[in-house]
Amino acid sequence: MEHNKTPAIYQIYPRSFQDSNGSGTGDLPGITRRLDQIADLGVDAIWLSPIYVSPMIDGGYDIVDHRHIDPMFGTLDDFDAMVAKAHDLGLQVYLDQVLNHTSDQSPWFQDAIAGDEGKADHYLWRDPKPDGSPPNNWLSQFGLPAWHWNHQRRQYYYSQFLPQQPCLNLRCPGVQDAIATQMRGWRDRGVDGFRFDVVTAFLWDEVMKDNPPARPEVQDKVAGENFNPYTYQDHVYDMLPGDGAAYAENLRKWAGDDAYLFGENTSGNQSIELAMAFTQPGRLDAVYTTDLPEGRGSPATIVDMVNRSDSLHRIAGWLSSHDQPRHSRGDASDLVLALQMAFLPGPWIIYQGEDLSLPQPNLAKGDVTDPLDLLYWPDGPGREGARVPVPWTADRTDHHGFTSGMPWLPMAWNGDIVQRGLDVVRPFYREVIRLRRDHDWAGAQVIACEADGDVLDMTIETQTDQRFRGLFSHGAGQPGNCPDTEPLFRADPADAQGWFGAIWQV
Ligand code: NOJ
Repeated sequence: MEHNKTPAIYQIYPRSFQDSNGSGTGDLPGITRRLDQIADLGVDAIWLSPIYVSPMIDGGYDIVDHRHIDPMFGTLDDFDAMVAKAHDLGLQVYLDQVLNHTSDQSPWFQDAIAGDEGKADHYLWRDPKPDGSPPNNWLSQFGLPAWHWNHQRRQYYYSQFLPQQPCLNLRCPGVQDAIATQMRGWRDRGVDGFRFDVVTAFLWDEVMKDNPPARPEVQDKVAGENFNPYTYQDHVYDMLPGDGAAYAENLRKWAGDDAYLFGENTSGNQSIELAMAFTQPGRLDAVYTTDLPEGRGSPATIVDMVNRSDSLHRIAGWLSSHDQPRHSRGDASDLVLALQMAFLPGPWIIYQGEDLSLPQPNLAKGDVTDPLDLLYWPDGPGREGARVPVPWTADRTDHHGFTSGMPWLPMAWNGDIVQRGLDVVRPFYREVIRLRRDHDWAGAQVIACEADGDVLDMTIETQTDQRFRGLFSHGAGQPGNCPDTEPLFRADPADAQGWFGAIWQV
């Protein structure tokens, strides 16, 4: 079956979506209960951040067993019920696949420590240099050293994130077989596609040469804050663009031609070029890069993406996620950005609560559990704020309908903001998603795209030869060059403060 190549995808971070049993943590029955509301938005699919067995050191991205569901989220029966209801509602279900690393609690890693050489080959173990120091200068993306000593093996193992997330050797046939089996297992349970964590990090230079220092222009592009030492290196040897992109052909083979596959690109440098390489025929359908959230969807960012790509169809648009601070400011800018995102050709990922314009919450240090947030506290952008559970009602007395217990993170949502979200923002998202679908903006080609300061002027042509022109002003007021006809749709926010967005059929 031909799958939708440019879906609107609703990202669910399950721990923070809907609790069903008073544990304070969201779960699968909770998701099932809320599926009608997601379907009602008009999106095509849901993507679930990891629900697999995990000690949750990295929010579920540290996986012990990809084949089973962590009891905190429910059971396989709960999962089947969720998929069945999603399909009844016309929603596709995409699961996360975190193939770059496992949890250090994985039996594979524990066996490797215990001396099982077959399992040791599932990871990257290297002897120390003669002076006992690590094999090379590689750093983890979180800025920690990438090599960690294990005294039992008297070797270093490699990790691109936390020490508790040893990197897998994705060239190892045993690892590849296990991945193929686990993906087939989820497809057999009805899963329609996968989101691949950090696809740009999968492969590395086999000689493991030192990365050279980053020139200033590269340092500025490497994703993340410049106070993270990871940005000091040019990642030419630990992030291989060459055969790294071709590896996606394995992912396609294992997932099946009819699966929708998209990947996360954490390389800010050469981001769009890498996205194009990873989405060649027989590879992934789309990749998303950090350009849009880092540029907050600015006109210059979009022009740059259009100029550097063959087609936006292969780049998923997004602004917020479980990793980025929420982009919403709770004002007119959110609505204009939503309209602009709906108009942009290509897939679109909407993060839970974005459709309520939830602003980024401030958490006290004592409430934060994410090791990355704590590492750079209080200067990092922080990830856990975006993971504060979502409110379903404006009423604070019952934790906004999220849980009957104590939420795993404090929910200090402002009731007025939530009410505006429910009354104004969610209906607005529903409307722009409907327009995107009815006019097939997602499948259109960009005909012209210019940025005039803070104004984006974009014309697209759909597969049925309809042309639309969108003008989006990021705070610079209504542009002087608007067509003098009535727009098909305009974001007409109260208190616009110079934000403006409208679309004309031309
Ligand atoms: C990207 C995920 O989105 C993030 O949450 C995680 O920490 C890293 N990959 C490592 O898996």
